[in-house]
Amino acid sequence: MSSAPPKDDDSRAAGRRQVLPRGLSGKLLILTMLVIMLTEIFVFLPSVANFRLTWLADQFVTGEAASLALERLRDEDVPDDVRDQLLSLTQTELMVVRRDGARRVLATKAMPGQVARHVQLASPGRIQAVRSITDALDTLIMGGDRNIRVFGPMKKRNGTLELVMKEKPLRDAMLSYARNVLLISLAISIFTGLVVFLTLRALLIRPMQRLSGAMLAFSKDPEDPSLVIEPTGRRDEIGVAEVQLSAMQKQLRGTMAQQRHLADLGLAVSKINHDLRNILASASLFSDRLTSLPDPVAQRLAPRLVRTIDRAADYTRSVLAYGKSGEAVPQRGLLRLHRLCEDVAEALALDDDSGVEQQVEWVNEVDPDLEIEADAEQLFRVLLNLSRNAVQAMDSASDDALIKRLTISATGDKNIIQIQVADTGPGIPDAARENLFTAFGASGRNGGTGLGLAIAAELVRAHGGSICLLDDSAPGSRFEIKLPKS
Ligand SMILES: Nc1ncnc2c1ncn2[C@@H]1O[C@H](COP(=O)(O)OP(=O)(O)OP(=O)(O)O)[C@@H](O)[C@H]1O
Ligand SMILES: [Mg+2]
Repeated sequence: MSSAPPKDDDSRAAGRRQVLPRGLSGKLLILTMLVIMLTEIFVFLPSVANFRLTWLADQFVTGEAASLALERLRDEDVPDDVRDQLLSLTQTELMVVRRDGARRVLATKAMPGQVARHVQLASPGRIQAVRSITDALDTLIMGGDRNIRVFGPMKKRNGTLELVMKEKPLRDAMLSYARNVLLISLAISIFTGLVVFLTLRALLIRPMQRLSGAMLAFSKDPEDPSLVIEPTGRRDEIGVAEVQLSAMQKQLRGTMAQQRHLADLGLAVSKINHDLRNILASASLFSDRLTSLPDPVAQRLAPRLVRTIDRAADYTRSVLAYGKSGEAVPQRGLLRLHRLCEDVAEALALDDDSGVEQQVEWVNEVDPDLEIEADAEQLFRVLLNLSRNAVQAMDSASDDALIKRLTISATGDKNIIQIQVADTGPGIPDAARENLFTAFGASGRNGGTGLGLAIAAELVRAHGGSICLLDDSAPGSRFEIKLPKS
């Protein structure tokens, strides 16, 4: 029932599409021809007005020549047939000369018609342009059987000559002139239109078609490297667009490859986590048993081992949860930062109780009373990543004389707390600086994945804070974390 109107609309739309070409080239051709035709009209109007005045002036000159002969003779000396021939040769109906207030009819048809228009011939400078154009249009549109009176001063003699004539020959001459002008204009506009069209097509349309074609092809198969547009080296706006498009396509391909990489990695991590969780569960069981051994070292280390394994098991759970939800919302609680830093040192076996011979000196300068509201597990991971990087960087230096010191300190007011993790290592390599906090963007270390700092930055951001590398002259690296206190 309701299907008829849309059909109508469709066919109307199709009709419109047929009238106007869809491509830019066709539209350009039609537009160029229209503009040229319009320009020709503006040129045509004054030129047809000028043609009319010239035609009348020619008639006037012929009339003046005839009047010269007639005026010399007395009226009765001129036979009627000669007079008629002169009138038809000059295409006039009435010929009158006025001089010194006297009016003399030199020749007249038997019944000259009623005069409809008067045209005063004067020097071209005095002719008003607009008036002459409206008069020309009047002749073209209205002139048919009308009579016109042309008058003006004679060139060779004193006095004024008046000619009454039919307007039709003038109109016919003007029509044939208009036809010729129209044909020439049409030819010029087609020729110019084609030249403009072909030039613009080569200069603009073709390159634009190439650009849009490249976009279309690329959007269909962004993985195909051959579909990245090759800039032609033009220096104009199209050249700029080509370069930008090419750069965008390359960047997009890079981003897509990185996303694929991330997706693959995510899947791999989920799988590894899944199995790691089971292994950690067994390890936890075994380490529980260690506590029951009578050995004092086992008694001291076993609880640490249990805590560490439990923490690792928690991570595997949260990684799997992250894979599902896509975000880790911090579970804030009030904690002592000093204690958390000690946990980090313990996890890296940097503390004195670890039983490991220390390569790196650990300095915890955080006020033992400093409290902060944060997700303990996440803040632990942030500090662990920063501290582990520092330890790894300092471990890589083989010179034993070098001081290897990792210092964590914190300052703050009632709103914001600044935590600094500083080391005396070799500093961040230049190559790693640019994308330091981007996943996979900045690994300058053998065996590093380039994820540690990205994870740290993400967790800090989730707390509403920020992390940055401080650029100061002290040797080593110094990272600063700013966190809202609550
Ligand atoms: N304290 C530091 N001293 C020197 N270089 C550092 C330090 N911290 C980070 N870097 C440099 O920044 C890079 C990126 O660190 P990031 O923790 O993001 O990745 P990673 O340590 O390479 O790998 P992982 O994902 O295992 O942590 C490191 O490879 C290292 O080159
Ligand atoms: Mg790291």
